[in-house]
Amino acid sequence: MRTPLIAGNWKMFKTVRESVAFVIDLRDRVAGLTGVDIVVAPTFPALHAVAGALEGSPIGVAAQNLHWEREGAFTGEVSAAMVREAGAAWAIIGHSERRTLFGETDDTVNRKVRAALTATLVPIVCIGETLQEREAERTLDVLDRQIKAGLDGVTGTELAGMVLAYEPVWAIGTGRTATPAQAQQAHEHIRGRLTQWFGQDASSRCRILYGGSVKPDNIAALMANPDVDGALVGGASLDADGFTKIVTRGRR
Ligand code: 13P
Repeated sequence: MRTPLIAGNWKMFKTVRESVAFVIDLRDRVAGLTGVDIVVAPTFPALHAVAGALEGSPIGVAAQNLHWEREGAFTGEVSAAMVREAGAAWAIIGHSERRTLFGETDDTVNRKVRAALTATLVPIVCIGETLQEREAERTLDVLDRQIKAGLDGVTGTELAGMVLAYEPVWAIGTGRTATPAQAQQAHEHIRGRLTQWFGQDASSRCRILYGGSVKPDNIAALMANPDVDGALVGGASLDADGFTKIVTRGRR
């Protein structure tokens, strides 16, 4: 059975000092909690200090992005090997904010996924449709394209250890969550495609998270769906009390 995963994507929030103070507090709040994996994704400058503060704790650390080359003349970029050495074991890839604001495409997502796997980072690959695509009833086609292109060249064994995050763009930061039924429909479709393209074993082990306005009061209903294996939480992950509630209610 898949262990639920609750990941907090802090986006461009919290300084190094605030990040470290937050995880020292969080670590105590969730001590001894079983039945759920927890990951936090601070900004690049805070990665190393946060990983240090969490040493010996089961809380994992994720980068929010990476570059696919190992090193080189790429001003402003950070490689998978660099975030791995800084203490991250996970990496969020292809978040819709990166796709819409920073020009990421399915091709760059794919390069980043492969680079993450090479550096032994667990990719958390974000997919999801815009409101316009949903209204045009193109949701499932968009998901198919993002999965097929984004995971090109990934093996079944690799997929089994990976995480996908279904984040409908219209639900991110809007307070408008997908209904549990909408989430399950998308997740079931994604799981079906993974079975078709990577095999039953890999598909049944890959975790699929839901993201988009997840809060303490809607996590339980989302988690009641068989194909929802956890959540990628934005705004509500910035508050220790709220995030702890989400983690606690996300257990199975
Ligand atoms: P919100 O939880 O703030 O809607 O953000 C979701 C998200 O983008 C997580 O990656």
